[in-house]
Amino acid sequence: MEKLLSHLAHLEIASPDVEASATFYAERFGMRIVDRVDGAVYLRAWGDYYEYSLVIVSGPEPALTRMAWRTASAEALEVAARRVQEAGIEGTWVQSGHRFGRAFEFTGPYGHPMRLVYELQRFTADETTRSIYPDRPEKRSQHAAAPRFLDHVTVATSDVRGMAQWYSDVLGFRIMAFTDLEEAPITVFSVITTNEKSHDLGIVLDTSDRPGRVNHIAFWVDTLEDLFRTADVLMEHGTDIEYGPSVHGIGEQNFLYFREPSGLRVELNSGGYRNYVPDWEANTWLPHQGSNNFFRNGEMPHSMTESFPPAEGHTATEEGASEEMKAALLNPYAQHGRG
Ligand SMILES: [Fe+2]
Repeated sequence: MEKLLSHLAHLEIASPDVEASATFYAERFGMRIVDRVDGAVYLRAWGDYYEYSLVIVSGPEPALTRMAWRTASAEALEVAARRVQEAGIEGTWVQSGHRFGRAFEFTGPYGHPMRLVYELQRFTADETTRSIYPDRPEKRSQHAAAPRFLDHVTVATSDVRGMAQWYSDVLGFRIMAFTDLEEAPITVFSVITTNEKSHDLGIVLDTSDRPGRVNHIAFWVDTLEDLFRTADVLMEHGTDIEYGPSVHGIGEQNFLYFREPSGLRVELNSGGYRNYVPDWEANTWLPHQGSNNFFRNGEMPHSMTESFPPAEGHTATEEGASEEMKAALLNPYAQHGRG
C-alpha cells in the first residue's frame, strides 16, 4: 500500500466550560489561543507547523469530537477515502473547514470521529513571533511549561486487536506493540503509528457500552528536563500530577499525566525510539515487563482507568487492567451476578 497518512494534525475536544479549558491550556500549559470562531477556541503549541493543533468546543461532557490526520498527498486523500468506503464505512466530504481544505470525515468502526485532510494552513509567524531558526514555525515559548507540539491521542475501544488491524488494513497504520493480560490472552492495549514514532494513536480496551471514548490527548517536549520542569510548573501553580514522571516500556517515552479543568487527561511525552521498519511485527508485552511504567516501582493510580465521556465499565491503560477490570474480564458471569 502506498503511504496514505503522514501524521496527526489536530484534535477537537469538547469541554463543558470552554473558557476554563482554554485558559488552562494557554495560561497554565503555555499554549497560545490563535482563533475564536462560533464559540470554539483554537490553540497552538509553539512548534506546531499548522495554525492550530487543539480545538475546544462546547459540549456537555469531556470528549474527543474529532481527530484529524493529514494525508501524504492530495491523491492519498482520495485513495484513503475510497478505502474507508470500500471497508463499509459511510463518510462525508466537506469542502472546507476553519483553516483547512477539502476533507473526508467519518466515524470509525469503533465509534471514533475521524477527519482526513491534505490542505491545512501552515502557521506563518509575524515580526514578533518569527524564530531565528528558519525551520521553526515560531519562537520557542517563554512559558516554562510549554509543550513543543501535539504528539498523539489514546482512545478506548471494545476490541483492541480488531481496531488496530482495521486501521492498519484500511489506512496503513503500522501496528507497533500490544499488551495482553498476564492471566489470559486478552489484549488491553496497542500502539499504532503513521510514521517513525511508536504511536500517534494509542488504543485501550473499554468494557463500557459507550463507543468512541478517549483516554488522553498528548503533547511533546524535547527533553526529559523539559518534562520535569513542566511537572514542577504545573504543581507550583496548583495542577496535580496524576501519574509520572516515568518512562513507558512500550515506545520508551517519558511520560507525565495531569487533568485539564473538564477532567480530560492530558499527557506530556519526551524521548522514545524512532522505528522505520516497514514490516515491523508487533511484540506482545505483559504488564510485568513494564509495558507502561518500565521501572515497575510505583503503583498506577486507579483514576488512570477513567476515559471520557464517563461511562459505566472499565478501561485499561498502557499498564494493563485494574484488578476490578480483570475480575470483570476473566469472570464476566460473576461480575454480572450470574456466576
Ligand atoms: Fe499516551
